[in-house]
Amino acid sequence: MSVRRLAPDDVQPASFALSPENERFLAAQVAKYPEGRQASAVIPALWQAQKQHGGWLPRAAIEAVAVRLGMPVIRVMEVATFYTMFNLEPVGRYFVQLCGTVPCHVKGALDLKQVLLDRVGDERHVTADGLFSWLEVECLGACCNAPMVQINDDYYEDLTPDLLVKLLDDLATGRPVKPGPQNGRVSSEPEGGPTTLSDPALFDGSLVGAWRSRFEEPAVAPASPAATGETAAATGTGPGDPKAAKPDAGRPVERGVADAPAQRAANGEAPLNPAERADQGNPAKATAVEPGSPSQGRPPQSEKSYTATPAKPEEGRLVADDKGTSPVAGTAPEAAPTRRDGSDTKPVGADPDASPGVAPKE
Ligand code: FES
Repeated sequence: MSVRRLAPDDVQPASFALSPENERFLAAQVAKYPEGRQASAVIPALWQAQKQHGGWLPRAAIEAVAVRLGMPVIRVMEVATFYTMFNLEPVGRYFVQLCGTVPCHVKGALDLKQVLLDRVGDERHVTADGLFSWLEVECLGACCNAPMVQINDDYYEDLTPDLLVKLLDDLATGRPVKPGPQNGRVSSEPEGGPTTLSDPALFDGSLVGAWRSRFEEPAVAPASPAATGETAAATGTGPGDPKAAKPDAGRPVERGVADAPAQRAANGEAPLNPAERADQGNPAKATAVEPGSPSQGRPPQSEKSYTATPAKPEEGRLVADDKGTSPVAGTAPEAAPTRRDGSDTKPVGADPDASPGVAPKE
């Protein structure tokens, strides 16, 4: 936890005024907000004031920002003392922020800390030449390149104690330094070079449009041993690939012979319903499918070809077993107590004995 106090009075300047350049910057920031909401620009105003004053915010700068934005001084003080990006006491020309959070810690941040203690001194101490001061901070978001430090506005990553010593020497002597990884790797790529996406075919354009081949080729050939990358993904088959659906998949199976009166008569069964007697022997009423007939193999054309779903007693519908209409084995159909063709479940008013074409009795 940072101690957020203003610097002692003996280091506080007597006054502070924003430079003309920063005045113009602040005017542009204030213009982004509606009239009366200029306080929204308080953070960029403090940030520019800190930069102008050598990297830290004196009391006079906080008060000047409050006057410029028409805010109570205490409101600006609350912001300046809350955010650790604002330094409230003098820092060195090169202000080093050392990340001490776990990823950097396990990669050697403690060794870097010892370098800073030896070279610069305690935290917040400014060297006699005014060049360096340092502070341990929490994660700076460069964990892939741990351990690292931020010096002023730049990150220096993949550090070792020797590399940090060299970096501080270069800064002290004015030699140019290069921000970013200090061990030679590019950005946060794997140390020792890339280990993925290493197939050159991925980058020479030869795989562009390879996916289209699975639609253009009638038969998918197994991927050749030389195929790699997207080519293999587009043309190869594997054990998990789905099989092609059969043309009749999911369709109901048509029975060869339907339970029609004419068919039952052809099988030697005497009809129970007089209406069926008129139909027996009428081939037009039979739905038996003869081998080689034009209808064989077609999808079903009428409800006669489907097996009816049995009614459930709990639905209050008539069920054959409930009425005792199931024929007893060995009983002639004529001796059955009632019909077994379901005609007794016809709507009320319908005459089950009516002949075809005859109007039902009133
Ligand atoms: S832990 Fe050090 S940058 Fe994230």
